[in-house]
Amino acid sequence: MISGVKGMNDVWPEQVIYWQRLESVAATVLSRFGYEEIRTPILESIELFQRSVGESTDIVQKEMFTLTDRKGRVMALRPEGTAAVVRALIQQGRDGIAEVQKYYYFGPMFRYERPQKGRLRQFHQLGAELYGSTSLVGEAELIEAVWHYFDALGLQQISLQLNTLGDENCRPQYRQKLLQFLNSIKPKLCSDCQARIDTNPLRVLDCKNSQCQSLLQAAPKMVDSLCAGCQQHFTDLQKLLKASGRKFELNPNMVRGLDYYNRTVFEFAADSIGSQNAVCGGGRYDSLVASLGGKATPAIGFAMGLERLLLLLEQQQPITPSAPHCWIIYMGENLQSAALLLANELRQQGLSCGFDQISRSLKHQFGRANKMGAPFALVLGEQEIKDNSVAVKNLKNSTQVTMPRQELLPYLHQQLKGNL
Ligand code: HAM
Repeated sequence: MISGVKGMNDVWPEQVIYWQRLESVAATVLSRFGYEEIRTPILESIELFQRSVGESTDIVQKEMFTLTDRKGRVMALRPEGTAAVVRALIQQGRDGIAEVQKYYYFGPMFRYERPQKGRLRQFHQLGAELYGSTSLVGEAELIEAVWHYFDALGLQQISLQLNTLGDENCRPQYRQKLLQFLNSIKPKLCSDCQARIDTNPLRVLDCKNSQCQSLLQAAPKMVDSLCAGCQQHFTDLQKLLKASGRKFELNPNMVRGLDYYNRTVFEFAADSIGSQNAVCGGGRYDSLVASLGGKATPAIGFAMGLERLLLLLEQQQPITPSAPHCWIIYMGENLQSAALLLANELRQQGLSCGFDQISRSLKHQFGRANKMGAPFALVLGEQEIKDNSVAVKNLKNSTQVTMPRQELLPYLHQQLKGNL
C-alpha cells in the first residue's frame, strides 16, 4: 500500500462540509469589509521566502519543502501566503499606489513541522492583506474583520493578544539591550535559545521551554523602549480597540515567527483545541514590499489556520450533513429504470433524491432511505406504473398517500417548503 505523505491529510465528505462553511462565511464577511479574493501559485522561488520570512527563522531554516526544477532553479512550496501576495503586487505594478488595496486568499501552505493535533505539514490558511495605509483605523478594521468572522461562524472563547515590535528607529537599540540581557543568562537557557541569541534574539522571547520562560520574565521589553511615534501608535490602537468593545491582552513577549513585522503584531488563540491554540496571527509589515524590490507600500494582514478553526467548529457548532429531499423505492429490478426516470425529473426540478442502484430488497431500500434521513420515500410498484401514480410515504410519521404522478411535484414542494 502506498500511504499519503506524513502530516498531509485527505479530507472526506464529513469534513468537507466544515471546510465549505469556513470558506463561504469568509467570502461573505471579508467582502463586507471590501476584501477581494486573490489566488497565487503554490510554488514560488525559494528566494522569496528567504528574503521575506527571514533567513534565520525556523520556517526558512528547517521547515520548507523545496524542489529543484529541470533547469536547476530551487523552488519552495509556499510556507505562508503574505510573501506571495507581495510578490504578485510588485510584479503587477500595484505597489506604491495611492489607493488602499484589500485582498484575501485561501489555500494550502507547507511547513515541515512535527505533526500533531492542529499542526500539519500541509495545512490551510485564510489570509487577508491590506496595502497602502498606515492608518490605525485600517488596523482596527482588520482586527474587527477577524472578530466578525468568528461571530458569523458562532465561535466563542477566543482571546486576542497584542504587542508591538517597534520600528527601524527603536528596534535596533532594543535589540542591543535584549542581547546584553540574553548573554548574561545564556548558560541557563536551552540549546535552541542559545543558538538563537546570535541569529534572531527576539525569537528567544517566544521559547516554550518553561525554564527559559521563567528566566525571560526579567528580559527588557520592547514596549519599554519604543520611540515616540511607535508609542503613540500602540496607545492609539489600544484606544480604538477598546472603543469597539473587544477584549484583548497585552503580551510583551509575543514576537511572531516571521521577520517582516514592525509595530503592531497580534494573535488570536483558542485554548480548547489543545497546545496548538493559535488560530490566527498577523501584524503590520510596512517595509516588506520595498525590501522585495517594490515601491514603499505600508501593509498589514493576518492569516488563520483553517484546520484549527475546524476543530473549534466541531466542538462548538457541529454541522450535520444535509439529507436528500426524498428516496425512491422500487419493487423489483425491472422498475429500476422507472426509478431513474423519476429521479431525473425530480432533480431537474431542484429536488435532491436517490435510489438503490444495486437492486436490494424493499426492507433494505427503506432502511437506506431512513439512514440517509430523507423525509419522504416515493414508492413505485407495478400498480403505480400502470396507473401513472406514486405512493408517497412520510418517513417521519409513517403516513402514506398515493397520488397521480402530476400531483407529486406540487405536493413535495408544498411539504418541503423552507427546506428547498
Ligand atoms: P503564522 O502565524 O505563521 O502567520 O500562521 C498563521 C496561522 O496559520 C497560525 O496562527 C496557525 O493558525 C496556522 N498555522 C501555522 N502553521 C501551521 C501548521 N503547521 N499546521 C496548522 N496550522 C498552522 C503567517 O503565516 C503570516 N503570513 C500571517 C500574516 C498575514 N501576517 C501578515 N499577513
